[in-house]
Amino acid sequence: MKDIKAIVFDAYGTLFDVNSAAEKCKGKIGDKWQGFASFWRTTQLEYTWLRSLMKRHKDFWQVTEDSLDKSMKAFKIDSSMKNELLNLYKVLSPYPEVKEVLKKLKIKEYKLAILSNGTPALLSELVKSSNLENIFDDLFSVEEVRIYKPDSKVYDMPIKKYQIKPDEVAFLSANTWDVSGGGNYGYNAIWVNRNNNIFDNLDYEPKNEIKNLKQLIEVIQ
Ligand code: LAC
Repeated sequence: MKDIKAIVFDAYGTLFDVNSAAEKCKGKIGDKWQGFASFWRTTQLEYTWLRSLMKRHKDFWQVTEDSLDKSMKAFKIDSSMKNELLNLYKVLSPYPEVKEVLKKLKIKEYKLAILSNGTPALLSELVKSSNLENIFDDLFSVEEVRIYKPDSKVYDMPIKKYQIKPDEVAFLSANTWDVSGGGNYGYNAIWVNRNNNIFDNLDYEPKNEIKNLKQLIEVIQ
């Protein structure tokens, strides 16, 4: 991959483990914690897409809470756990290799940024609780444009700020639909296929597929 000027990361699922909030409560939730975590994530994303189509924006924290309410009902989880789960969602664990890889990229000449559905406050807190401060040039939040991924207004943000072309961006996401969104927009989209998933049929094939961020260093050189 040549002439890359900015490396832009999706946050949830790519840098931070969205299942870690439910996992930390597995003693109380029991064996169904994985099904519950997956249902919560799917519902949360569906709400972002539906709200964008309905033009009824609510920020990602509200959407996360709304989707949690439905998921707790669906999995018959006691409502007393709601605050604990929400508080854990603010401090999701980063994947193990994230810090080391970002530090290596930081000493190179790239702009490094997060581009996420998360609110500015959520993104700052995630970066802070993971000790990733001073790594990123920008934390781009959809709140600036008040519509969710994969609307092109979201992917426009780093292009406008850095005055670069879409194909000068390496965009990394573990979310297949976000790889398709960024790729169709014109980014060099790299799929971080952490869980051996199947890719989508949405008019874009990822420029590269990697298992975790460690392989990124080889890909962009
Ligand atoms: C994000 C979601 C898509 O961080 O994971 O934007």
